[in-house]
Amino acid sequence: MNNSDTPVTVIGLGLMGQALARAFLKAGHPTTVWNRTTSKADQLVADGARSAPTIADALKAGSLTIVCVTDYQAMHELLGASEVELDGTMLINLTSGDSTQAREAAHWAEQRGARYLDGAIMAIPSTVGTAEAVILHSGPRSDFEAHKSTLGALGTTTYLGADPGLASLYDVAGLAMMWSVLNAWLQGTALLATAGVDAAAYAPFAQQIATGVAEWLPGYAEQIDRGSFPPEVSALETDARAMAHLIEESEAVGVNAELPKLIKAMADRSIAAGHGGQQYPVLIEEFSKPHDD
Ligand SMILES: NC(=O)c1ccc[n+]([C@@H]2O[C@H](COP(=O)([O-])OP(=O)(O)OC[C@H]3O[C@@H](n4cnc5c(N)ncnc54)[C@H](OP(=O)(O)O)[C@@H]3O)[C@@H](O)[C@H]2O)c1
Repeated sequence: MNNSDTPVTVIGLGLMGQALARAFLKAGHPTTVWNRTTSKADQLVADGARSAPTIADALKAGSLTIVCVTDYQAMHELLGASEVELDGTMLINLTSGDSTQAREAAHWAEQRGARYLDGAIMAIPSTVGTAEAVILHSGPRSDFEAHKSTLGALGTTTYLGADPGLASLYDVAGLAMMWSVLNAWLQGTALLATAGVDAAAYAPFAQQIATGVAEWLPGYAEQIDRGSFPPEVSALETDARAMAHLIEESEAVGVNAELPKLIKAMADRSIAAGHGGQQYPVLIEEFSKPHDD
């Protein structure tokens, strides 16, 4: 569907907001922009955007308004002023935050008569406007469907569900995965460096392992959803012995052992609770509750 005539507004022209506005312009949308520091609109105006003199004016110009500022506090400061009329507007907040902030913002927008979708950008500015930029959305499905095609100008748009907190939750879940994979790789890289192995030599091997482990996820997810963890591959106590080995090896060659010790401590607690004969994903029980230091 060609909807490039749909007028859009972008509020917040930092690195990400500028990239979002550029992507809309490139897709042919009449694009209105507003930023606290007005000079950040100059290049976009030269490229065809219209700079709104006030936020109120910016909100009236677009069929939808993207908000992308530093944090939710900034968003509330900007849009919370009594003279800003939100009634009848469609807000899509791509500012990063947590799920509580997103749910509160959805409630706040509803009270002000605005439609509201929350979003999370899993991309860097240079990829915005390409399929590589994954942008997550949550909130009322009808609002997402109504604007899906326009939002498609920004990247690969994904709808997660009606709970407005979902986009933020998926965002941090993705970060947890990213850092865990990178940290595990760095641990192995440091270990191998003690034997003179370059990071580049280990990287393809590590990549193969990460890809192989990723393939276990759907089956392990079924175990978690069923709440049953038969040891089809290995029992947690077998894994825990390998963890001890990793700790000993790290300490013996003078490499940081904090991370494997942390993982082993969780496994030990699960074993002490009687789960040693079950499969690794039984650790979800440790991950699902707070840990008192
Ligand atoms: N950059 C990335 O790679 C990336 C990736 C994913 C998600 N994000 C998210 O996108 C959002 C924006 O990031 P960014 O990289 O564009 O940040 P940025 O370059 O630091 O820009 C911040 C923007 O917020 C505005 N702002 C901050 N406080 C304000 C206030 N009190 N009142 C009015 N405007 C205010 C700034 O206005 P001024 O120009 O007037 O200071 C500017 O437009 C963040 O939530 C970030 O986490 C960024």
